[in-house]
Amino acid sequence: MYRVAEVLISEEQVKNRVYELAKAIESDYKGKDLLVIGVLKGAFVFISDLIRNIDLDVTLDFMAVSSYGMSTQTSGIVKILKDLDSDIENKDVLIVEDIIDTGLTLKYLSDNLKSRKPNSIKICTLLDKPERRQCHLDIDYVGFEIPDKFIVGYGIDCAEKFRNLPYIAVVEE
Ligand code: PRP
Ligand code: MN
Ligand code: MG
Repeated sequence: MYRVAEVLISEEQVKNRVYELAKAIESDYKGKDLLVIGVLKGAFVFISDLIRNIDLDVTLDFMAVSSYGMSTQTSGIVKILKDLDSDIENKDVLIVEDIIDTGLTLKYLSDNLKSRKPNSIKICTLLDKPERRQCHLDIDYVGFEIPDKFIVGYGIDCAEKFRNLPYIAVVEE
């Protein structure tokens, strides 16, 4: 059994930072057709708050991938559960993730998407755990750098639970 031990980032802090990220994206993509690709399931809350603060013509698509499943440790194997609905050739793509931990999910995903010849590809993540990285990744937008603790909430799960918390919390057994 896991339970919430401590609130790491409050609802208010998340809200303010998401707004700042949206405004940075808005100014960087002015005059372009932005295609946001959300990585399900974890990023679904972040994406919905983020895009509602981006005042541009945004197109949205989703990929569903999973490498943790019901485990607290990555399998290292990224399973594509749902692919994009449309072609991304010549599009300006922004991948939106909830958290980058080992980086294996995003490494796999960004290499996969690059092979489809988009015009540009950038990465936005709400949370980054740099201590845990197992591969090199260039991340363009980071909400918060966090320590190596097991966190949940705002879309992020522990064995599929806690996604509905409106804040980011540390869990313990
Ligand atoms: C989690 C999280 C990221 C990924 C980060 O997804 O949402 O997508 O792991 O870990 P990594 O950097 O070590 O690869 P998960 O596989 O748990 O699927 P979910 O989003 O459906 O919960
Ligand atoms: Mn995920
Ligand atoms: Mg998960």
